[in-house]
Amino acid sequence: MESELTSVNKLEDFKALIKREGIPQHIAIIMDGNGRWAKQRGLTRTEGHRRAIKAIRTTVDACISLNVKVLSLFAFSTENIDRPAEEVNELFRLFDQALETETARLKAEGVRFITSGDLAVMPDELSRKFRDTVEATSANSRLTLNMCVMYSGRQEIARAARNLAEDVAAGRIRPENISMSHIAEKLYHPELPDADLLIRTSGEMRISNFMLWRLAYAELYFTPRLWPDFAEEDLCEAIVAYQRRDRRFGRIS
Ligand code: IPE
Ligand code: IPE
Ligand code: MG
Repeated sequence: MESELTSVNKLEDFKALIKREGIPQHIAIIMDGNGRWAKQRGLTRTEGHRRAIKAIRTTVDACISLNVKVLSLFAFSTENIDRPAEEVNELFRLFDQALETETARLKAEGVRFITSGDLAVMPDELSRKFRDTVEATSANSRLTLNMCVMYSGRQEIARAARNLAEDVAAGRIRPENISMSHIAEKLYHPELPDADLLIRTSGEMRISNFMLWRLAYAELYFTPRLWPDFAEEDLCEAIVAYQRRDRRFGRIS
């Protein structure tokens, strides 16, 4: 009870510190630590992944109420496919279940659900479910939830290079005219703004091949909190820290 009260106070304190005019437009999160969360409790890794869904729900709701426009969540990297088949299958099963149970809710909340990554690598039935949720929420505009599955930053850039090479081969663009904006136009969902704030949970301080292009000038925020425990209070704390940074973009402040 006491810890609950402290937590409520912290949430209110952080919320009071947030300036409404400086809310990051695009927050990207590396949701890490599900396995360690489970291990600490003597539970299976799958149980940690299952609890991660609750943290996603909380974070989506908090982003809506704070008026964040884009939330990118790293849910499965192209490297994660090299985990034991049993864990990968369990993750796929959880994605499937979550899409089943959460789609109506996302739709009702005004969330536009999109994906970044190579869905074709996943079982057909699962990639179809991802596409169904994308389709069901496509008219929404309150918050864009960009779920990064079968995603890696280098793969995204390689894919952009491949697409550009096709344009060159077809005579649509000359190599000497290729600029940064041409690459940006070939990323997944070119309409998304660059990430303003990157949050990584679980205490690891690395990018792990996430969003390499769009993170170029993001503020980086690392928290020891394990993803299943990530709460509204943690998001608000990260935004308070973000608002205290001096974003210079190479210039002099
Ligand atoms: C993040 O949690 C979820 C995925 C990468 C799919 P982990 O499964 O990496 O949890 P830890 O890092 O082993 O604790
Ligand atoms: C990054 O976490 C990928 C996701 C959160 C989906 P990992 O747990 O796979 O990253 P490393 O192996 O610690 O770098
Ligand atoms: Mg991890």
